[in-house]
Amino acid sequence: MASLQSSFTVLATTPTSRNSPLPKPSLLSTARRSHRFQVSCSSGGGGVDRRNMLLGLGGLYGASNLISGRKANADPILPPDLSQCDPTGATTTNSQGQVVSLDVNCCPPYTDIQSDYKLPTFTTTRVRPSANRRTLSPEYIAKYQLAIQRMRDLDVTDPDDPRGFTQQANVHCAYCNGPYDQPDHPGTDLQVHNSWLFFPFHRWYLYFFERILGSLIGDPDFAIPYWNWDNPRGMFMPELFAVPGTPAYDANRNQDHIPTGSNPVVDLSLNSGLTDPIQIVNNNLTIMYNEMIGTPASATDFMGQPYREGDAPHSFSGGGTSERGSHTAIHVWVGDPRNEYSEDMGNFYSAGRDPIFYCHHANVDRMWTLWKGIPADYPKEITDTDFLKSAFMFYDENKNLVRVTVADALDHKRMGYEYEPSNTPWMNYRPQQRVVPADVQALSKKAQTVKQLFPLTLNNTVRVIVPKPTKGKADETLVIENIVTDNTKLVKFDVFVNDEEDKPEEVDRAEYAGAFTQLPHRVKAKESTGNLRLNLRELYENINIANDGSVVVTIVPTINGGAVSIGGIKIVPRVN
Ligand code: C2O
Repeated sequence: MASLQSSFTVLATTPTSRNSPLPKPSLLSTARRSHRFQVSCSSGGGGVDRRNMLLGLGGLYGASNLISGRKANADPILPPDLSQCDPTGATTTNSQGQVVSLDVNCCPPYTDIQSDYKLPTFTTTRVRPSANRRTLSPEYIAKYQLAIQRMRDLDVTDPDDPRGFTQQANVHCAYCNGPYDQPDHPGTDLQVHNSWLFFPFHRWYLYFFERILGSLIGDPDFAIPYWNWDNPRGMFMPELFAVPGTPAYDANRNQDHIPTGSNPVVDLSLNSGLTDPIQIVNNNLTIMYNEMIGTPASATDFMGQPYREGDAPHSFSGGGTSERGSHTAIHVWVGDPRNEYSEDMGNFYSAGRDPIFYCHHANVDRMWTLWKGIPADYPKEITDTDFLKSAFMFYDENKNLVRVTVADALDHKRMGYEYEPSNTPWMNYRPQQRVVPADVQALSKKAQTVKQLFPLTLNNTVRVIVPKPTKGKADETLVIENIVTDNTKLVKFDVFVNDEEDKPEEVDRAEYAGAFTQLPHRVKAKESTGNLRLNLRELYENINIANDGSVVVTIVPTINGGAVSIGGIKIVPRVN
């Protein structure tokens, strides 16, 4: 592995065939084979194309893999090989479920000069301000708009400049919509969502975006704003992004959510039937509490599931509580429902085209910093070297192509920035505890057994009696198994335990266990399969559970239940 850790500067070599170890048998699927076929088609059409000319990096990795025979214990995700970026690999799915090619080339410009990135020693700290703060100074706003404008200008003067706005947006598309395969695993996408790569990848992405903006306006201390959607004062679209004709404006947004004097409230529960702003705010605070504190029982519950070299990308259930929850909800809430693909924010390939994306993700990144500081009964650091050594490629503010690691992104202060503090009322928003436990016997009469109910398509609300391994209060996890979703659909369902009230639009209650949300997304298969795990220990305390041997779980299809099927449900001792 030593060769991967050392600096590398690779020049293009003569064409060679790539050394590709056999894929893991479990990953062989029709979808992968058909993709591989595409790749060989596009590079085998006679003549020497760029792809064949520039195999330097791939060759290096291929060789090091063979030498180390690494499979046994070290499988970090390798940084993409830019020479292998396949523009035709970028696809999405339309509302009829057909995979369609994107008419954009989201591959970055290529250079064969690359190096390991060394974090500078910062003497000043870039303090990222809240975009929703009323007192944001006109000077700051002017600077921000100027910096975005300079980035947009590069699109016109030099479309191949990696610092340009469109090139920056394409970084997201390239890492999410399929142009990159994992080095040495042709046909297996490199995907930075739905796994533990989610937070570190986006932290680096914002880091370079911010450094580029600063350098374009000659202010290395410039800091991007964050959208304070976790605080009631920030639960509306920041006006900074809503002035038509200004650089931070984007027309492809949900027009009902544009701030116009009466500011529509952000709805993290994505319940379109809700109109009472107070209920929406209460829901939001509960959702924040749950995803930051109540639900995760391990670092990977919050950060996302392990994703290692050679793994096929996970479905949405591989994402951590924050990625699946507030993060996804804001994407959906901002995206334009008039657009077939929910552009810009509602689809990965186009999300980076909306300047608000970077402001949204600054708050997502801030959530990572806050979560780390909240005491919990599990370690907050992931020490697995497959996580720490995973790496990405970015262009820095001087247009140098650099390789960065997850390990170097763990401490944001070392990266020279921090967040202006703002209130976090969700931290104390644990739902009110019930005094009298629910009558599970009575509830069970309206419910079915696991055997009677599953497998099912979630067309309607269902109630199921789920046996508990231990009676009463215990440290247990609810597992909803084999959730199969249509990848082309926005999907959401909510889960309640021992709920006698049946008010699914009010999630600020002790009985609320959590949700499953899926953005329509592009993968090679039409369907994804995964499990949803929800930690129940706090919920049992909140509902003041009696010494019962089972609970009644209610599953409510909130959005497109018909596109979800569920294989089963069980409660197990806490899973870490
Ligand atoms: Cu890379 Cu919010 O998505």
